[in-house]
Amino acid sequence: MVETIEWTPAGVVMIDQTRLPLHEEYVTCRTYEEVAAAIRTMVIRGAPAIGVAAAMGVALGVAHAAGGDAGDLDAQVEQICDTLARTRPTAVNLFWAIDRMRKLYQSLRGRPLAEIRERLAAEAQLIRLEDIAINQAIGRHGADLVPDGKTVLTHCNAGALATAGYGTALGVIRAAVEAGKKVDVFADETRPFLQGARLTVWELQQDHIPATLITDNMAGHFLKSGRIGCVVVGADRIAANGDVANKIGTYSVAVLAKENGVPFFVAAPISTLDLTLASGDLIPIERRPDAEVTHVFGHAVAPEGTMVENPAFDVTPNRYVTAIITERGVARAPYTESLRVMAS
Ligand code: MRU
Repeated sequence: MVETIEWTPAGVVMIDQTRLPLHEEYVTCRTYEEVAAAIRTMVIRGAPAIGVAAAMGVALGVAHAAGGDAGDLDAQVEQICDTLARTRPTAVNLFWAIDRMRKLYQSLRGRPLAEIRERLAAEAQLIRLEDIAINQAIGRHGADLVPDGKTVLTHCNAGALATAGYGTALGVIRAAVEAGKKVDVFADETRPFLQGARLTVWELQQDHIPATLITDNMAGHFLKSGRIGCVVVGADRIAANGDVANKIGTYSVAVLAKENGVPFFVAAPISTLDLTLASGDLIPIERRPDAEVTHVFGHAVAPEGTMVENPAFDVTPNRYVTAIITERGVARAPYTESLRVMAS
């Protein structure tokens, strides 16, 4: 399986997800500003992966912070956390990871700088390792839900590339395959950024899991055909009532799944829950640049001056969600109750 992100003596190394699948290249971020830029430009993307990147960004920032008294260092840490927090607004894992690093720093206040640096670097690496273990647990819980001998439809990329490894939605598929189920995958191409075409298909090919690429507007046709056994997607933020923010287009797939009696599963770690928000209407939705819609791989596909909307995520109301699979088990409606219990 591919390595998405690693902490190395040279800096934070990431596979460049803007270059896949044509080029398998790795970038080394040597400063926290470079990590922030990599998150913003989607060199690294996917909710858990940007959480890990942000944690490593904080550790890298403090590794290079000038010494000084505790007050000076506090201000520098705030600046680092703030820069990383302003990269992408929707995936709550980013803020979860920054908060965890900030709290650790605060608990170490007054300790020698070398020790603070070491502890923050260790914590960021721990978050990465924990994420892989969490995804494997999500896979174990989700594998039972995947029907044997059927096709699984997925949207965007919620795989190893979107996490520290193994994946959430693709982790469920991997675990079903590892359990001996005969499963193949339909991957929505996921316009405009093409995570499905560029990343999901590439990643499944690496693991020899059969994957078929479809354009987003074909999903309804195949959901009606009886061929799709279930839909499994990831999430960027899940509100207390079980409304799910995920890649734009997820909502349409969920509605079409329900219309056709196909189970719609969301696979996500507990760190994707945002129980401070009562419903999905409160989730901030990122707007991405127009050029992602008007251009494909740098080539214009629309006339110059075209007006564009480019929300990166949509919110699927909880009534379309058959179950939410986390590392602690499978939550079902009513979600306000089941997610509260699961998170506690
Ligand atoms: O804009 P992206 O590529 O970061 O969006 C990613 C998604 O929407 C994923 O489905 C989500 O982050 C879950 S990843 C395990």
